[in-house]
Amino acid sequence: MKILIKDGHILDPSQNIDCRGDIIIEDLKIQEIILKPGEQHQRHKENIRADKIIDANRHLVIPGLIDMHVHLREPGFEYKETIKTGTFAAIKGGFTAVCCMPNTNPVNDHESVTEFIIRKSKQEGFCTVYPVGAITKGQKGEELAEIGTMKNEGCVAFSDDGRPVMNSTVMKRALEYAKTFNVPIISHSEDLTLSEGGVMNEGLLSVKLGLRGIPPEAEQIMIFRDILLAESTGGGLHIAHVSTAGSVKLIREAKKRGVNITAETCPHYFSITEDAVEGYNTNAKVNPPLRTFYDIEAIKEGLADGTIDVIATDHAPHHVDEKLNPFDSAPFGISGLETALGLCLKLVQEGVLTKKALIEKMTVNPAKILGLNGGNIKTGSLANIVIIDESKEYKVKAEDFVSKGKNTPFDGWTLRGLPICTIYKGIIYEW
Ligand code: DOR
Repeated sequence: MKILIKDGHILDPSQNIDCRGDIIIEDLKIQEIILKPGEQHQRHKENIRADKIIDANRHLVIPGLIDMHVHLREPGFEYKETIKTGTFAAIKGGFTAVCCMPNTNPVNDHESVTEFIIRKSKQEGFCTVYPVGAITKGQKGEELAEIGTMKNEGCVAFSDDGRPVMNSTVMKRALEYAKTFNVPIISHSEDLTLSEGGVMNEGLLSVKLGLRGIPPEAEQIMIFRDILLAESTGGGLHIAHVSTAGSVKLIREAKKRGVNITAETCPHYFSITEDAVEGYNTNAKVNPPLRTFYDIEAIKEGLADGTIDVIATDHAPHHVDEKLNPFDSAPFGISGLETALGLCLKLVQEGVLTKKALIEKMTVNPAKILGLNGGNIKTGSLANIVIIDESKEYKVKAEDFVSKGKNTPFDGWTLRGLPICTIYKGIIYEW
């Protein structure tokens, strides 16, 4: 089958492509890219024959997005999400590859679990799934998992995400291994002795609501420790879900010194503050917690100056009944795959990022950090492409999510910019 994507605005930061053109797809691969520099919105009479023509006039055509931080919950928590439903939510959100965190049951701390995830995602998944292996057995923070064996089985990074590695010696060894095997260690930076029992950001609001707070230092102290360990070992360190102004500053300074460090933040950390928790809204309960306006501004600066390399969702679906619990006992997490692009495009609409810089943080940068193929539109590569209607306004409706997790604080928000077509290995999904 031959597919023609016609007259779109092709934006591929990896190749510095930013102009109008056509893309021809055949046999699951990109066969040809015809660039038309200098053109605006003229429509061309069709002279290329194709089985399917997608009119992309006035739409943005970008590489399939890569989300380097999601929770697919399988094996073990299929009532929250499965590989099938989570990867379908990814496709709907414009992602053609996701990296799944190891806090499943059993934990992905052994090559047999990695093998299961890869096999299941090939059988049932809608997009590519790259497993992230646990740093320590059972994510207990004590004994290192078999990092080399798991890498050979397909793990692209290692993290105890959901929990920190509190033991500094264990973290140091993990970074040494990471260097040997050339894989990044993703740090869930949280000092449990400071965050213990906390359920939201520590501040006036937590006092007013009578909830125990998690101070920004809980994140910053661990980032600082991990920077020192990355510096002494030379191991690749990636900081997950950056939420505070102080964290941005620490990462910026470390980068200046040449530390082997990269970082990500998530749409909720630049879109909403702790105020979203008011009324004990469990859909705004997330770890690390939503912070303040001041933190949002610093995160935007960090995105703009390149301190923060990646935007990932930390898609953390939970069952509706779990989120109906009292705030203190409800689980942390936001279902993020289906709102990410719309929230991220706000950064472009507000002038925080150029379109190119945004797409870079959702395609080529995660691909580079993890050593993945993809995140580009290149002749001969698999056809993983997203078409976005940038002017389309729509209301977020959690009940319409294809993810099992309807837990979002963005329900009812109006967003602009919708992925209307995701092409994964030549298969077309249109909305
Ligand atoms: O809010 C969160 N939810 N943060 C994490 O680190 C883990 C995640 C989960 O697994 O639900």
